[in-house]
Amino acid sequence: MRTQVAIIGAGPAGLLLSHLLRAGGVESVVVETRTRDYVESRIRAGILEHSTVELLRSAGLGDRIAREGDEHRGIHLQWPGERHHLDFVDLVGRSVWVYGQTEVQKDLGRAGDRAGQQIIYDVRDTAVHDPADPYVTFTVDDRPARVDADVVVGCDGSFGPTRDVVPGQTWQRTYDYSWLGVLADVAPSTDELIYAWHPDGFALNSMRSPTVTRLYLQVPSGTDLAEWPDERIWDALSDRLGHGQDGWKLARGPITDKSVLPMRSNVAAPMRRDRVFLAGDAAHIVPPTGAKGLNLAFADVALLAPALVALLREKDPRLADEYSDRALRRVWRCTHFSWWMTTMLHSTDDPFDRQLQLSQLRWVTSSEAGARGLAENYAGLPIGF
Ligand code: FAD
Ligand code: DHB
Repeated sequence: MRTQVAIIGAGPAGLLLSHLLRAGGVESVVVETRTRDYVESRIRAGILEHSTVELLRSAGLGDRIAREGDEHRGIHLQWPGERHHLDFVDLVGRSVWVYGQTEVQKDLGRAGDRAGQQIIYDVRDTAVHDPADPYVTFTVDDRPARVDADVVVGCDGSFGPTRDVVPGQTWQRTYDYSWLGVLADVAPSTDELIYAWHPDGFALNSMRSPTVTRLYLQVPSGTDLAEWPDERIWDALSDRLGHGQDGWKLARGPITDKSVLPMRSNVAAPMRRDRVFLAGDAAHIVPPTGAKGLNLAFADVALLAPALVALLREKDPRLADEYSDRALRRVWRCTHFSWWMTTMLHSTDDPFDRQLQLSQLRWVTSSEAGARGLAENYAGLPIGF
């Protein structure tokens, strides 16, 4: 089969790209190793930046976010004995939204259904060939298949095959801790997210809906979930989030999902070779502390879609030629911000580092200049920054 753009991966980046290309009059075929059910129920990110919500709205995908999403003015930052609210709307005029990646994925899937978008799920052995005149091969229903395309885009996440056909440099940082994430059937105990520094380790109190809470605990890398029965998780969350402090209480409920998420930073550049492009986690990974991964994937796509429309419809290569450099500016900004939030909030054994962290936390919660820097990055810079 032949198409204009072959997209590898039906995660958020791949599906949004197919949607924006369709709106620009460019056809695409998406191939995905997992089933549709699997990609729509993968529990991952939960916070949409201001620009992401604007982008989804302008693409006609904002209705359910407006109805069911929860707009937050800011976050709480805390350490033992102190909790401070940063109001992003007051600081930088931008808010964020709590809206799960599972829901974004469903909205994109339904928009694809309405438009008759071709998405081939459950494929195996995907391979990208000949970057100058690209085609993709894979197996579906045990039969070999091939898609020839003017352009191939790897939206295939951090373990997909496309990155290997785009040679270049990679930069990496590993962290010696992970997150233990849980989803619980209990009303959130907080109005807005709480990011908590604690000598035992970082904790994050997030949410998905008025009846579902999402919580994370810093744990050592290599942690076995078997060591963390529900009671131990709730006890650690209560200690680190300050249950009992100034009358605040962490409500407990049945845990419905539990996983350990390793953390790393990784950037690959350039994000293009000939007619093969990379977008989202296929090109970069950030640790989750700044809630940037999903937003950054969408920011890449917001640059790439108009570039491919200009390239394929008007034969104008300028935006496509600029894509990698422009995208990487934001990638490095988010890579720095995610590293900065991570290293400020995760406890370490080094007593000197602890004092620096506490000093930094006092500064961002007491100085308007400090608070503004955090707010500008968290609520997100404009697309095209
Ligand atoms: P992905 O969502 O990874 O999508 C890539 C798609 O490509 C997948 O559907 C995959 O199945 C498919 N694929 C892979 N290989 C192939 C192949 N060979 N052929 C065809 N298809 C292929 N971010 C946050 O901000 N907060 C969080 O709490 C958070 N939690 C996360 C938890 C986990 C376990 C992970 C992995 C990521 C998390 N992230 C989080 C990051 C965020 O979810 C990602 O940044 C976001 O999903 C990026 O979207 P993407 O479309 O680029 O990549
Ligand atoms: C969530 C995840 C994050 O990484 C973050 O910084 C905030 C919220 C979440 O899954 O709700």
